[in-house]
Amino acid sequence: MTQQARARLVLGNWKMHGSLAENELLLAALRAADTNSSSQIGVCVPFPYLAQAAQALQGSAVSWGAQDVSAHEKGAYTGEVSAAMLKDFACRWVLAGHSERRAYHGETDQTVADKARAALQSGLTPVVCVGETLNEHEAGQTLAVIRRQLTPVLALGADAVARMVLAYEPIWAIGSGRSATPEQAQDVHAAIRAELAALGTPQVQVLYGGSVKAANAASLFAMADIDGALVGGAALVAEEFLRIAAA
Ligand code: 13P
Repeated sequence: MTQQARARLVLGNWKMHGSLAENELLLAALRAADTNSSSQIGVCVPFPYLAQAAQALQGSAVSWGAQDVSAHEKGAYTGEVSAAMLKDFACRWVLAGHSERRAYHGETDQTVADKARAALQSGLTPVVCVGETLNEHEAGQTLAVIRRQLTPVLALGADAVARMVLAYEPIWAIGSGRSATPEQAQDVHAAIRAELAALGTPQVQVLYGGSVKAANAASLFAMADIDGALVGGAALVAEEFLRIAAA
């Protein structure tokens, strides 16, 4: 399937940034964004700000979501937030398995797949993140790592995977200012696309994340298998984020 058949998606991951006052300005700027942008746009905000995002963005071209979700439906899981709760705030997206969750919160490949499944069951679109460390990258293990991370996710089956978004985020490129080159990213995206095609779901959007900015977005988006971006730092500056979306 050609890239033209897949819509471009640019999602912001605010990580643990923001305040009511700061968000108000950022959300207002996004709300005012040109709805003719060639990209679909969304923001994944910290849980406490979901209501604020929902209120500010309702009826706009910008969708919203969260950065994590519990794999459990409900119950005695102190501190966790369920997919149904996210749905209550009209979330469209939820990140699953961001490398910072994997690294600092011990999320395994199976946990990530369980979270993706929980998200789907509540009608959310999970954005499943994969990516290798610098050591793995330098050892030539990138594709092996990606395939390992994807295995339990793809095992959820074609019907489930067809309703997901995937994001390739090389850990060495996150917050480092050192993006993968478009060709490096394309190589990995092509391998992910081959896995998706083998499952019968080649139309799934695969985003790139890791030091995406307005200056490098167009060259990344020019690649055949890169369907958009998952943006960290640059998503905190409305003008920069919107320039990425317009690239
Ligand atoms: P940066 O864009 O800040 O490198 O972060 C990428 C990321 O982790 C998005 O999820």
